[in-house]
Amino acid sequence: MSFNKNIDVGEKLSGLFVIRNIELKSKDAQFYLKMEISNSSGRIYATYWDEDSQKISKELRRGVVVKILGRGIDVKGSRWLQIDAIRLANKDEVSVKELLPKGHYSCETLWERFSNYIDEIENPNLKNLLKRIFDDDKEFLEKFINYPAAKLWHGAYVGGLIEHTLRVAKICSVVSSFYPNCRKDLLLTGALIHDIGKVDEITTDGFFDYGVNGRLLGHITLGVIKLKETANEIKDFDEELLTELLHLVISHHGEAEKGSPIPPKTLEAIILHHADMLDAQAEGIEHIIERDLPIRGEFSNYIRILERFIYLDGYRKNSK
Ligand SMILES: [Fe+2]
Ligand SMILES: [Fe+2]
Repeated sequence: MSFNKNIDVGEKLSGLFVIRNIELKSKDAQFYLKMEISNSSGRIYATYWDEDSQKISKELRRGVVVKILGRGIDVKGSRWLQIDAIRLANKDEVSVKELLPKGHYSCETLWERFSNYIDEIENPNLKNLLKRIFDDDKEFLEKFINYPAAKLWHGAYVGGLIEHTLRVAKICSVVSSFYPNCRKDLLLTGALIHDIGKVDEITTDGFFDYGVNGRLLGHITLGVIKLKETANEIKDFDEELLTELLHLVISHHGEAEKGSPIPPKTLEAIILHHADMLDAQAEGIEHIIERDLPIRGEFSNYIRILERFIYLDGYRKNSK
């Protein structure tokens, strides 16, 4: 996904980008712009040294779409873009959505797979709740199908959230059959709703970021609010069932340091937590392999979130 490491020194690059960050800086009495820009191909740092950089900085800011012509340069071992020409994009040149990293499947395919899981639920209370959350609110559903699972780490592309949710549901569905006491309907419902708060947590205006709600409340709290509000709209919704569902959402990150105020205290909550973590880490490593395989040696770049390097050589074609 990241082209910033792939671009060669001197290689020309042109296209539409959204500005993620921008700073006006100066060196040796000359103003220049330092930016982080992105489009559906990835992110890259860029500099612009032209004498109009101070003037042009007034119309450029975070979230603005620009047309850029530049070339690859080396900055302390990383590839950056030296911008030769930059201008604001015209409104008819691009839709902001086209600048987001693309997913693997169509909306229709994703929704069909998702609604198959809802159809599997037998408990009428739970089925009704899921239909209200996903079927009745078309604006929410549109976002749920198009949102990423995270800003940068795993599933950071259009459709990443629903793809992640589908894999968590699949893992839970398989694992539930190993344990006779597992209440499959409850677990599957928890899997399908565990990250619904991300729709209110993440913004998608040209690039993925955390909005004010996301930064101040987080997706677990936002998911709890959405779940409670929806259940309250259903007449005589089973209170005990709601408490267990809320527990599934609240505990799915496993521990307080990872964002869950309560650790998992039911069999279903334990399974959901591990299914969620398994998919987040496995999908994250898939992304690292795809990103670093063409450009790194035996090991990936250091992955801060995992505190380790990932071994790449085993994934090279013809290496075994
Ligand atoms: Fe989560
Ligand atoms: Fe998740």
